[in-house]
Amino acid sequence: MRVELAKILLQKPDILLLDEPTNHLDIESIIWLEQWLKKYTGAIVLVSHDRIFLDSVSNRTIEIAFSKINDYKAKYSKYLELRKDRIEKQIQAKKNQDKFIADTKVLINKFRAKKNKAAFAQSLITKLNKLDIIQVEKEDIGRMQFRFPPAPHSGKLSLTLENASKSYDDLHVLEAIDLEIVKGEKIAFVGKNGEGKSTLAKMIVGEIDYSGYIQLGHQVKMGYYAQNQADFLDDELTVLKTIEDAVTEHTKSNVRTILGSFLFSNDDVSKKVKVLSGGERARVALCKLLLEPYNLLVMDEPTNHLDIASKELLKKALMDYDGSLIVVSHDREFLQGLTEKVYEFKYKKIKEYVGDINTFLSEKELDNFKQLETSQKDQKIVIKEKSKEKKSYKNQKILKSNIRKLRNRIGKLEKEIQSISDDLKNKDIALADPVKFKELSHDKEFFEIYDQQQKKLKLLEDEWTSKIDELEGLL
Ligand SMILES: Nc1ncnc2c1ncn2[C@@H]1O[C@H](COP(=O)(O)OP(=O)(O)O)[C@@H](O)[C@H]1O
Ligand SMILES: [Mg+2]
Repeated sequence: MRVELAKILLQKPDILLLDEPTNHLDIESIIWLEQWLKKYTGAIVLVSHDRIFLDSVSNRTIEIAFSKINDYKAKYSKYLELRKDRIEKQIQAKKNQDKFIADTKVLINKFRAKKNKAAFAQSLITKLNKLDIIQVEKEDIGRMQFRFPPAPHSGKLSLTLENASKSYDDLHVLEAIDLEIVKGEKIAFVGKNGEGKSTLAKMIVGEIDYSGYIQLGHQVKMGYYAQNQADFLDDELTVLKTIEDAVTEHTKSNVRTILGSFLFSNDDVSKKVKVLSGGERARVALCKLLLEPYNLLVMDEPTNHLDIASKELLKKALMDYDGSLIVVSHDREFLQGLTEKVYEFKYKKIKEYVGDINTFLSEKELDNFKQLETSQKDQKIVIKEKSKEKKSYKNQKILKSNIRKLRNRIGKLEKEIQSISDDLKNKDIALADPVKFKELSHDKEFFEIYDQQQKKLKLLEDEWTSKIDELEGLL
């Protein structure tokens, strides 16, 4: 995989399209790719569920939601903030609009009854019909909600490996592995592709034979999520049937609720497994794992097909889980704070690091630092010059002055918007008062101004939105 990627990268294309490049890479390769892409001067279009990777490589985020795209000139974490702001603004705008509609309807009803004002009422009706109804974007990705069932009681030791080895014919993958997992302990398996992480997981769950000793603790019930777990589902079964088949008689009534918490609606559950997307299949597979209570979970790359929000939920569920956990993963954010030990697979052995993935990475960095330094010297100089240029005094000054101008304009716009809105509000109050309304209904000019102010307000608000966007692009 890394070789394939390297081949493409070395051609130095003008534009790179990368669709989930980290899915099948190990952590070291991900970091390597990250460094490479950071220095790359061409354009990159990157599809990824790896937040840390996205944040360090990208400077623009395009969100696809409701068949539309929203373009943010910011990296992922900043995009999340901007998006939140935007939705808050939408909610406010929607509130204002709802009020405007309600008020106008009141007006229409009043005018309608009056013979000489029927035409005006009609014009208001037309106006309402023409209105672009603001739609508030909800969280596009619904939230999965689940917990692992509490771990049944078990002995103090969950798992013991002594002198465990594995060869596939002539290929020696693991040699004399010793490992002990105590009840409630959470550990991570990391290492390059092909170092034997999945092999050890399969040995532990008894899926493949091996030499040496592997023993489960007293009353340990083990659940297993294989690297290609989603492929084991029967394509021809529906989602509902898949889960129904996996549950015992007395939990059958809960199946729809359980599926609901994995975001399968009533329509979705009758879909056949073969039409599901990778992410949906992964959710069905995960769902199956939750149906029975286990006190030792072995999960091999469980995040591979999950989107960012689902990954966060899985992580949360695993953090809350009170059983023991062995998880194979190359996702730094997923692993952060999740496990108390990391085992690195290298040269047929495993090496223990006490701490989570960050401890592991910082210890590793010391090893790799010298290597990196020599290979990147030349490129470093180029980067330095570039950033110098970017931060040159003159450019900074222009940037600052542009930001100041934008802020001034935005401030003025806000004042104007406020003043017109206040004025309109007063007019609405006046119109709602029967006596005043009677006076005003003879006043043609009043309604002309009223109309103009509405238009002006819309223009000002549009300009305000675009200036805010512009400003955000500069910050
Ligand atoms: N069934 C198999 N037959 C032969 N070789 C295998 C088999 N499964 C895995 N291997 C080899 O064993 C090594 C370890 O594989 P694996 O445990 O899947 O690594 P990892 O999960 O760390 O990426 C690899 O070189 C792989 O090609
Ligand atoms: Mg594997």
